[in-house]
Amino acid sequence: MDQGNGAQVRERILALLRGQPGVYLPGHEICRLIGISRAALWKQMGLLRRAGYPISAKPRLGYSLKPGGAPLARTRIMGRCLLQFMRVSSTNEVARRLAGDGAVEGTVVVADEQSAGRGRQGRAWVSPRGGLWFSVVLRPPAVAQPQQLMLLGGVAVARALRRTTGLEPGLKWPNDVMLGDRKVCGILGEMVPASQNGGDGRPAVVLGVGINANLDPWSFPQEVRPLVTSLKQELGRQVSLRRLLIAVLEELEQFYSTWLEHGFGPVLEEWKALDRTVGSLVRVSTVEGSLEGRAEAVDADGRLIIDTGEGRVTAVSAGDVHLGAAGFI
Ligand code: BTN
Repeated sequence: MDQGNGAQVRERILALLRGQPGVYLPGHEICRLIGISRAALWKQMGLLRRAGYPISAKPRLGYSLKPGGAPLARTRIMGRCLLQFMRVSSTNEVARRLAGDGAVEGTVVVADEQSAGRGRQGRAWVSPRGGLWFSVVLRPPAVAQPQQLMLLGGVAVARALRRTTGLEPGLKWPNDVMLGDRKVCGILGEMVPASQNGGDGRPAVVLGVGINANLDPWSFPQEVRPLVTSLKQELGRQVSLRRLLIAVLEELEQFYSTWLEHGFGPVLEEWKALDRTVGSLVRVSTVEGSLEGRAEAVDADGRLIIDTGEGRVTAVSAGDVHLGAAGFI
């Protein structure tokens, strides 16, 4: 019997279950249609459940995918269109293409794994199965200050992590979510210019969120291991990716609505309450080069203000911060 590639088998199982939402399909029938053994079916069903698919199993009846698929009832915008993939190159890439085709605001693309996950400043983002990798299409009325949305993303994730795990995350400018001094989540914001934007005349923003959820230390490349962590490592148990996704989307919706209605002020207040950057000696790498100094503040637009010495102060809009104690720089 051809067991096929695991990801393809899972796609086929999902296609069968999605074809008849709420209906129980007997296990032996699924095995026959796909051409796999019972043992392979159990294994793949387990993996699908762990990835967050709401699959119910009943003795003698079989398997069913709960109808609705996306229990995002408490959000009005975020996730109203949800596309779930086993494997994509990059959810940001897919979301950008969808935004270009006119996808509605709040469209979410989520994948179990990414073959070419993207990080900030052109870096690769290692995205094996077990992490929560997703992107949201936003269509703000004006994207004069995209930097503000980047900070907003970090606030939403930090709040969602605190709510679902009880951990106490902090933020490293602009939006790295930290547990202690290790990064647990990175956020990549990308603009989709109006010219590629389904003709609605406004640029869109794709916010890509990568949370190291159920990852083991050896999933990360050797050189970054001392700098990163995962929820599984911190909690000593797995977390539900589905619950986590829902929580992040709920927080995103709350802060995005606040931002639309009241501007950046309230979001910045929340960001400051979570901040671990201001007051530290920092080295900031930007596309133009790197600079060192003391992080003095974050201004009303979300830029990091750095005192580089002798009274010189620089405002940075985008970059990567390396934190250090006195003497590290
Ligand atoms: C960073 O460098 O800190 C940003 C990492 C962002 C990773 C996420 S994973 C989901 C989305 N798709 C991508 O290709 N990147 C973002």
